[in-house]
Amino acid sequence: MTQHAVARLEQLDPKRPLRVQAGSEEVILVRQGEQVHAYQADCPHAGAPLEEGVVCNGLLVCPWHKAAFAVDEGAVCEPPALADLRRYKAWVKDGEIWVDDQPLPRVGAPRHSDARCFVVIGAGAAGSAAVATLLANGFAGKLIWLDKERQPAYDRTALSKFVLAGEMPADEVPALLESDQLRQGQLERRLGKVRTLDAGKRQITLADGQRIDYDAALLATGGKPQRPAVPGTDLPGVMTLRTREDAARLLDAAEPGQPVVIVGDGFIGLEAASALRKYGAQVHVVSRHQVPLAKQLGERIGSCIRELHTRKGVVFHGPTEVTRFSGSGKVDAVELANGETLRTSLVLLGTGVKPATAFVQGVPLHADGALLVDAELRAADGLWAAGDIARFPLAGHPVRIEHWRLAQQHGVIAAANMLGQQRRYDDVPFFWTYQHGRTYEVLGHAQHWDDIVYVGQPEQGDFIALQCVGEQVVAVIAKGYSDAMALLSQRMKRPLSREQALELIG
Ligand SMILES: Cc1cc2nc3c(=O)[nH]c(=O)nc-3n(C[C@H](O)[C@H](O)[C@H](O)COP(=O)(O)OP(=O)(O)OC[C@H]3O[C@@H](n4cnc5c(N)ncnc54)[C@H](O)[C@@H]3O)c2cc1C
Ligand code: FES
Repeated sequence: MTQHAVARLEQLDPKRPLRVQAGSEEVILVRQGEQVHAYQADCPHAGAPLEEGVVCNGLLVCPWHKAAFAVDEGAVCEPPALADLRRYKAWVKDGEIWVDDQPLPRVGAPRHSDARCFVVIGAGAAGSAAVATLLANGFAGKLIWLDKERQPAYDRTALSKFVLAGEMPADEVPALLESDQLRQGQLERRLGKVRTLDAGKRQITLADGQRIDYDAALLATGGKPQRPAVPGTDLPGVMTLRTREDAARLLDAAEPGQPVVIVGDGFIGLEAASALRKYGAQVHVVSRHQVPLAKQLGERIGSCIRELHTRKGVVFHGPTEVTRFSGSGKVDAVELANGETLRTSLVLLGTGVKPATAFVQGVPLHADGALLVDAELRAADGLWAAGDIARFPLAGHPVRIEHWRLAQQHGVIAAANMLGQQRRYDDVPFFWTYQHGRTYEVLGHAQHWDDIVYVGQPEQGDFIALQCVGEQVVAVIAKGYSDAMALLSQRMKRPLSREQALELIG
């Protein structure tokens, strides 16, 4: 039997999907007027239960990381998901909803012959989203996808949350694209490090001397971890975290009960502190600030996060700086400007990244190494840049933001523009961080604010905080409040006053 009566129409709330069992398949039902659609029940990104998502403006928004899918077809409209929802035939008869448990075949975009060669450099967040977009849009020319990592295109964000906690082996970090996505079109994946990219000649040279001429290229090489300019910074045992190899090496060196010193109290440093505590290490964080993350989240939320870490056994040192890593042949201590010396054989540097663009020729680079792009993410004729390396206009001001979902949004837009569209970045940046079992989410990008309005108490549990300039909401920070954050992820594409935001939060 493939057809199943699964629910009655009046059971469906148009704003909320309903999870039902159709034979052996779990599906969600989404109501659109008198019509019903049936889709796979778990988000293709990281498996969130989609019945906990919300429906607004014709989109179903995932409760976890705010991917959005078109309600009428299940097509992915916003990352971090990069695949459409699997769809099932659903119909209503005499008020009863019926679902066929065989998924409908996916319909690919038509491919017309194309002599062009596109190159995507980098298989991280932005590069993967671009490749998925080019293939899904039917690009039929040659598509070369380059990366210097041996096993690229995985979810880097899991490294500091789950791999360092000993909860996920580094080589089992989820892949970004499904194998059937990679079988479309003329995709050629290549292992190679770019030595030069000449934007004027539209030519790439790899470290092994191979040359590639392109018609259009996307640069998405991400950030390179920076080491502080102090003696001993290159000693063995002083590590950085960007790749799965880095994470595996770190975990290999960490021992339960033994000290690890993390330099830096940014998101990566604090996520690593949380994960390594879970692993059982004695964690010390060297911090320049009295309150971590205050610049991004404000003093009150930053203090709550510091207090959470302290309660879980993380020891903060600071405000101070490292003056020297000492040891002969291997690090054995970290010396601080406040006179402390921390004995350790393992140090993680969470001291920021620099755009990996040293090989770019023929395009001016910003002082920090970023490529300046326009709102369509174009850096030069035939060249686009996306993700951590791109300085792009956000609400009229050039910014560079190191966020996973934003890099993917960039990748999608740049790919569409490589295909001849004229899409501009008018999305809402979104960021999440996971520390000691708590997820904090941020929508928008506030460089400054003059007031923060709280609903709920950050010291006590779930809360939502509106960072405002005058009456205008510029960013929202939350723990919990999943429905409101899903709605705001769409609503903040337009100007939003604090009154409107408070009404929406309810
Ligand atoms: C451990 C960790 C956890 C994070 N967690 C979060 C999080 O929870 N939420 C969030 O929003 N952001 C998070 N981030 C930040 C986020 O991962 C980045 O903003 C995002 O990956 C940027 O995407 P990208 O495509 O620009 O670069 P990347 O994802 O870094 O991809 C760049 C790719 O380019 C390749 N490459 C570089 N140079 C060359 C070259 N010369 N030749 C060939 N290939 C090259 C690299 O090998 C890499 O695969 C985290 C970052 C790290 C390191
Ligand atoms: S699980 Fe749905 S967007 Fe991440």
